[in-house]
Amino acid sequence: MKPILDLRHAKIAVELTSRCNLRCAMCPMASLQRPLQDMPWELVEKVAADFRTNGLTVSWLHEMGDPLLYPRLREAIDLFPGCSLSTNAVALTPTVSQEILASSLRRIRLCVDTLKPELYQQIRIGARFNQTTANIRRFLEAAKKSPIRVEIQRLITHETHSESVRDFVRFFELDRYPNAEVIEKTCEPLDTVEETSWHQAYYGCFQGYPFRWFIVLANGGVTHCCYDADGQQCIGDMWTQTVQEIVQSDRLRELAAAFRARDWATLPRCGECFRHPAAKSRLYDGLVQVGTRLERFVPLGPLKRWGRRLFNR
Ligand SMILES: C[S@@+](CC[C@H](N)C(=O)[O-])C[C@H]1O[C@@H](n2cnc3c(N)ncnc32)[C@H](O)[C@@H]1O
Ligand code: SF4
Repeated sequence: MKPILDLRHAKIAVELTSRCNLRCAMCPMASLQRPLQDMPWELVEKVAADFRTNGLTVSWLHEMGDPLLYPRLREAIDLFPGCSLSTNAVALTPTVSQEILASSLRRIRLCVDTLKPELYQQIRIGARFNQTTANIRRFLEAAKKSPIRVEIQRLITHETHSESVRDFVRFFELDRYPNAEVIEKTCEPLDTVEETSWHQAYYGCFQGYPFRWFIVLANGGVTHCCYDADGQQCIGDMWTQTVQEIVQSDRLRELAAAFRARDWATLPRCGECFRHPAAKSRLYDGLVQVGTRLERFVPLGPLKRWGRRLFNR
């Protein structure tokens, strides 16, 4: 029987810390309901050993929080070969940069989102545009001869529509850094499905299929969706269970049945995503799901990016 959460295709993440130095406007961090904490080192080692046994590669070292704040960052990175991290780059000091460059990190995503200083400060609340961009420039220079891939994130929202990838390339002089590129990310309704100044209203499972992630939160809880910032829909606990016990558990089967039954009392986070039927057409929801299934066989990356830009501006 096909597993509900198929580890061969799942995206895997480990939240090294749920602490963050910012409270960005579009991020659920500002209203996070769970404790702000670092993952205890003992748990990091346990998770890494279990992942190694199962041949799992971690995609990201975050769910919420900023991974640069983790005290044993370099050691943690080296426990998860092939991992990437995303950061607001506020704590990307020369010391932290050297630590990262000395580690096995494959890719770092530096989220600047916009090149308009005033807008930046409205999005990345608590950060200073000049300081962040100076950190990024210094890192680009330091990483020039390193195999690490550097991504600079541009966020797609109503307010940033006049900006382009080319503007970012010029601003950071990326022609000088062949290991760096600009990536674009649509602003998604992570904390609310209501329309806000950052994103449109949304209806449906944004993942297409709800069990595509295996995310270990800093407290050891495991959630199956990257939208589940509060860990309301945990499928297990890495303190007391193994990865295999979690993916084969009755809990996962119960949640899958609840999803089919649209039982939002059992799945409050999914219920939030399905709160406004009028927000998007059911056709769109259906298309996302078909695309997600197809993606297992055909790479749909560029098509998906185009689709998201069209539907979720
Ligand atoms: C939750 S943050 C955690 C890692 C780190 N603090 C950072 O900012 O990169 C992970 C990613 O989510 C993005 N993010 C936060 N809120 C978002 C939203 N509503 N829509 C799309 N991306 C969002 C951030 O830009 C970042 O790329
Ligand atoms: S987007 Fe990242 S930096 Fe901003 S508040 Fe959320 S977790 Fe922190």
